[in-house]
Amino acid sequence: MRLLLACFFMLFCSVVTAEEPAGQVLKILKKRCVACHGSVLAHPKGKFGHITDLPRLVTEPQFLVPGKPLESEMFLLMSEAEMPPRKSSSAPMPKAEIKVIEDWIIAGTPIPEDWLAGAGGGGGARTSSWRVVLAGWMGKLHPFVIHFPIGLIVVVALVQGFCHKERTSGMIRYGLRFGAAGAVGAAMTGWCWALSVDASETLTRHRWIGVATAILCVGLVILEKYRQQHPRWFGVLLWVTTILVLIVGHLGGELVHGPFFG
Ligand code: HEC
Repeated sequence: MRLLLACFFMLFCSVVTAEEPAGQVLKILKKRCVACHGSVLAHPKGKFGHITDLPRLVTEPQFLVPGKPLESEMFLLMSEAEMPPRKSSSAPMPKAEIKVIEDWIIAGTPIPEDWLAGAGGGGGARTSSWRVVLAGWMGKLHPFVIHFPIGLIVVVALVQGFCHKERTSGMIRYGLRFGAAGAVGAAMTGWCWALSVDASETLTRHRWIGVATAILCVGLVILEKYRQQHPRWFGVLLWVTTILVLIVGHLGGELVHGPFFG
C-alpha cells in the first residue's frame, strides 16, 4: 500500500513538474531552435548558442525582457515567423507554441528554483557533476576516434570492390579490425558525450545508426573468416556498413555544424 502511495506521489510530482511553464518553454526551444542555436554547435547561427540555458537567457535583455513580449527579441522573431528562418528546412512554429512562450514572458519569465541552483533540467551545461566532466572529455575524444572507422571501413570497401583479390586479404582483415575497434570506441565516446548535449531528432538518429554501424563492423570482423566461402554476402554487408558509416558521419557533421553545414 505504501509503495502504491509512493508511486502515485511520484506520478503526481512528475505531472506537476511537466506543467511548469519554463519546462514547456524549454521543450519548445529544444524542438525548434537547438539545430541552429544548441550548445554543442561549433559555430551556432548568429553566434547564439545557448538557447536552452534559460537561467542565463532571462538575464539577457537583448533576448528576453521579463513581462514584455513585444520588447523581447526572441519572441518577436518567432511571432514574425523569422525564427526558425523561413527558407530553412525547419517547420514553422505553431501558434500554440508561440503562445506558450508569450505567456511565460508575460508572467515574468519564471524559472524554477532548482534550475537556478544548477540541479538539473534547465541549464544542462551549467551543472558541474561527474557526468559533465566525463562528457567533456568524451566530447574531445569522439571527433578524433570517428576518423578511424570512417577512413578504414571506406578504404576496405574500395579495396574489396576494386582491387585484385590476391594480396589484399591482409589489408581487409586488419583494416576491418582497426576500423571496428574505432567504431566501437566512437559509439562509446559518443554515447558519453551525448549525456551533456541538447537532445534532438538528429542526435537520436546519429546515436542509433552509429550503434548499429558499430555492431555491423564487429559482425564484419567475425564474418571476414568466411569471406572466401561467401564473397557476395560479405561484399553486400561491407557496402551496407560503409553507407551507414557515411550517413552517421553526415548526421554527426550536422549536429556540430548545423543543418546548412557551415
Ligand atoms: C535553420 C537554422 C535556425 C533555426 C532552426 C533557428 N535559427 Fe535563430 N538564427 C539563425 C541564423 C542563421 C541567425 C543569424 C541571422 C542573422 O544574423 O541575420 C539566427 C539568429 C537568431 C537570433 C539573433 C541572435 C543575435 O545575437 O542577434 C535569435 C534571438 C534567434 N536566432 C532565435 C531563434 C529561436 C528562438 C529559434 C527557435 C524558435 C531559432 N532562432 C531557430 C538560424 C536559425
